[in-house]
Amino acid sequence: MRPFFLATVWFGATAWAQSAAVSSFLATESPIAKANLLANIGGSGSTKTTGVKTGVVIASPSQSSPDYFYTWTRDSSLVFKAIIDQYTRGEDSSLRTVIDQYLTSQIFQQQVSNPSGSVSSGGLGEPKFNVDLSAFTGAWGRPQRDGPALRATALISYGNWLIANSNSSFALSTVWPVVKLDLDYVAANWNSTGFDLWEEISSSSFFTTAVQHRSLREGAAFATKLAQTSVVSGYTTQAANVLCFLQSYWNPSAGYITANTGGGRSGKDANTALASIHTFDPAAGCDAATFQPCSDKALSSLKVYVDAFRTIWSINSGVASPNAVATGRYPEDSYYNGNPWYLTTLAVAEQLYDSLIVWSAQGSLNVTSTSLPFFQQFLPTVSVGTYASTTATFTTLTAATQNWADAFVAIVQKYTPANGGLSEQYDKNTGVPLSAVDLTWSYAALLTTTASRNGVVPDSWGAQELTVPSSCSTSGGGGSGGSGTVAVTFNVVATTVLGENIYLTGSVSALQNWSPDSAMLLSASNYPTWSITVNLPANTAIQYKYIRKFNGAVTWESDPNNSFTTPASGSYTLSDTWR
Ligand SMILES: *[C@@H]1O[C@H](CO)[C@@H](O)[C@H](O)[C@H]1NC(C)=O
Ligand SMILES: *[C@@H]1O[C@H](CO)[C@@H](O)[C@H](O)[C@H]1NC(C)=O
Ligand SMILES: *[C@@H]1O[C@H](CO)[C@@H](O)[C@H](O)[C@H]1NC(C)=O
Ligand SMILES: *[C@@H]1O[C@H](CO)[C@@H](O)[C@H](O)[C@H]1NC(C)=O
Repeated sequence: MRPFFLATVWFGATAWAQSAAVSSFLATESPIAKANLLANIGGSGSTKTTGVKTGVVIASPSQSSPDYFYTWTRDSSLVFKAIIDQYTRGEDSSLRTVIDQYLTSQIFQQQVSNPSGSVSSGGLGEPKFNVDLSAFTGAWGRPQRDGPALRATALISYGNWLIANSNSSFALSTVWPVVKLDLDYVAANWNSTGFDLWEEISSSSFFTTAVQHRSLREGAAFATKLAQTSVVSGYTTQAANVLCFLQSYWNPSAGYITANTGGGRSGKDANTALASIHTFDPAAGCDAATFQPCSDKALSSLKVYVDAFRTIWSINSGVASPNAVATGRYPEDSYYNGNPWYLTTLAVAEQLYDSLIVWSAQGSLNVTSTSLPFFQQFLPTVSVGTYASTTATFTTLTAATQNWADAFVAIVQKYTPANGGLSEQYDKNTGVPLSAVDLTWSYAALLTTTASRNGVVPDSWGAQELTVPSSCSTSGGGGSGGSGTVAVTFNVVATTVLGENIYLTGSVSALQNWSPDSAMLLSASNYPTWSITVNLPANTAIQYKYIRKFNGAVTWESDPNNSFTTPASGSYTLSDTWR
């Protein structure tokens, strides 16, 4: 095929052929992704969801190596945001049933007491539950504070559609109470640390902060529409505080958004691209205050993130900059030895497609000193300035961005098996699918990337013309897990035989009310010290015991019960020896 001439730049036949191939792949893959996504929801009738409560999203049907047969609030919310958006755009009216089932399941799940607390003492920060929606009581990275925000965002989308379609009564009676619990949690806890979206580091995470900000903004507007005015000023005040804090993740000297404040990593992470696409507001243009996909900061960060994977994996070897490469969670990742993920590679493409939507709508794009390195990848001679859509520079840069975005999808296409199944990861050497099969989030990512490539414009959530406060306030946002809770770490030295485990139960709901059956498994990662951290009500006298379970037999510690009183705030550590 002959290269063709477009404005001032030559595009080889490869770019044209790639675009056609990507279109064809997405046309084939989207229905597969949607069917496989829906099959991972309880009530679907699929054999993959046997025992899963109706409306509950499993992360993956994989029950070993790894066992992802649980429901995560984060993953479920992102999956349902994609489903609700399809429904409210009028693409598939049959989705109403499963959306209502999800809503019902979340009303139930919010009330389940768990190791992070009860509904009123921090339990909404619990990241994962068993598929029947009983509490998961094993050791885990908890709490995770993005889940309530993302669930609120998904359900507000549904609620706004209900209001616009003459069903405000249902929005008020049934959607609002769930949203309010989640937003009250976000407003009270955004200034406390928690585990990030990869569940490994307890710190502050850009993704968590960004989605919290969005949820509070749109929550205030949703409350106003429903005449729930008493919460509006509280949510708005905390939204401004969160927006202020959000700015602190930017690393001006290295030109990227630092994903986490802790963990000894570079902070170059898909976390930041995911935050941009899940807080995309087309009405906000390329505003950098909310790190919109086409903002100079988010584009600079995207380049730094992509470049971090160029030299570390053989799957990317021989691919010269600026060509697209397979990307993963973060370059230091060692989970399954560290590999590219489908959803992170797709996130790069989605951020770029979102950017193209805005540039096209605005009829111009800006190159700033911050985004210059991003644009110079494609046009080394470009300089800082505003380029109207009538200019050759605009045509060159947007065509190159489209081509680059397609190239990331083409990588996903290359490593998608013939049956269209999307796992969590693909091998960094061979590209063979790895880890959990049929990852629900991978399918949701394929669907949202496709919508963005097709120019589907999401609803605005109120990110336009926001002013960042000149000094950051934290008032009211620093609860330690829910209003009035304390993070208590239980350490107990206990020698065990192979197959025997140590559990904890005690006198409050967060300690499972003395139930040996739902007692919480401690982590043996510092054996012979067993540990777990649980959020408990502040200023409260607590009794507890450790128990052993071995081959179904339960052995309690000898009397008396252990006891202590939680402090008024902060955290607390207990160091016990089994007796
Ligand atoms: C409002 O939405 C709920 C949930 O889908 C539905 O059961 C109810 O029939 C709707 N009411 C009206 C008036 O449309
Ligand atoms: C709380 O907010 C302040 C002000 O934005 C910020 O400096 C601090 O790092 C935040 N801490 C957490 C844990 O969010
Ligand atoms: C470009 O910058 C100007 C001035 O800051 C701004 O008004 C405009 O919205 C920007 N356009 C885009 C597409 O970012
Ligand atoms: C420990 O607590 C349980 C539950 O309240 C109680 O039944 C039991 O008598 C207590 N044990 C002692 C020795 O006080």
